[in-house]
Amino acid sequence: MEAVAVHTTTELHLLEAACRVVAGTFEVVAKYIEPGRETRELDQIAEDYIRSQGAEPAFKGYRVGNLVYPYTLCISVNDAVVHGLPGPYRLQEGDIVSIDCGCKKDGYYGDAAYTFAVGEISEEKRQLLAVTEAALWKGIAQAVSRNKVYHISRAIQEYVEAHGFSVVRELVGHGIGRRLHDDPPIPNFVPPLLHRSQFPNVKLRAGQALAIEPMVNAGAPDVKTDPDGWTIRTVDGKPSAHFEHTVVVQDKEPLVLTLWT
Ligand code: MF3
Ligand code: CO
Repeated sequence: MEAVAVHTTTELHLLEAACRVVAGTFEVVAKYIEPGRETRELDQIAEDYIRSQGAEPAFKGYRVGNLVYPYTLCISVNDAVVHGLPGPYRLQEGDIVSIDCGCKKDGYYGDAAYTFAVGEISEEKRQLLAVTEAALWKGIAQAVSRNKVYHISRAIQEYVEAHGFSVVRELVGHGIGRRLHDDPPIPNFVPPLLHRSQFPNVKLRAGQALAIEPMVNAGAPDVKTDPDGWTIRTVDGKPSAHFEHTVVVQDKEPLVLTLWT
């Protein structure tokens, strides 16, 4: 693994600006989360907003292997974990809908995700959302210099499992900055001994930018990919949630750049 980038103050201002567009996108899109709304409408609203801010959607055109992601948002409903494709599906009362948004502005990336409730949701889903969002904040709290990556991983995993839910192993958080997915990988679990070289437990340093993103399943951690090649779903069909912020490591407390209200 390359050394993890430490950003200068000037670079952090560019990162902040990209993250502000991500936060603004959530503020706009949140108003349209309601029964009857097609997920592709949300995608169009997000893309229009991002471009109006002089930024670009970071996921549109993103390559994974020989697949190219065609949309601005990933929209993952109920048992979809991440990478759900916007389309003609209409949100229904009782759904949970995870929205993941990345933006690029002036060469810098910002990335965040939030799982919304559509109207009244079940008690299990309500708890899943609360636990996943709280787990993200447990992880963020560890993003201070002198800690290591696994401090973040452990805080998330322990919190989630203490509440009877499970963390997905196949997808992880990441460094971010001039690249959407940069080093270090940030697993939401402490890797078993034999897998530690895949996820180096590097020391955190002030000025590093991280996208911390727990993906939490109400049931078992196992996931599979749909025939569309993108949508990742729980194997047991139980719901899953995803919350993410882009943060900057500092000495005393982390700086969260993708906050929105
Ligand atoms: N969900 C990923 C993240 O938050 C990025 C998705 S890339 C895409 O890091 F190509 F699938 F959109
Ligand atoms: Co991310």
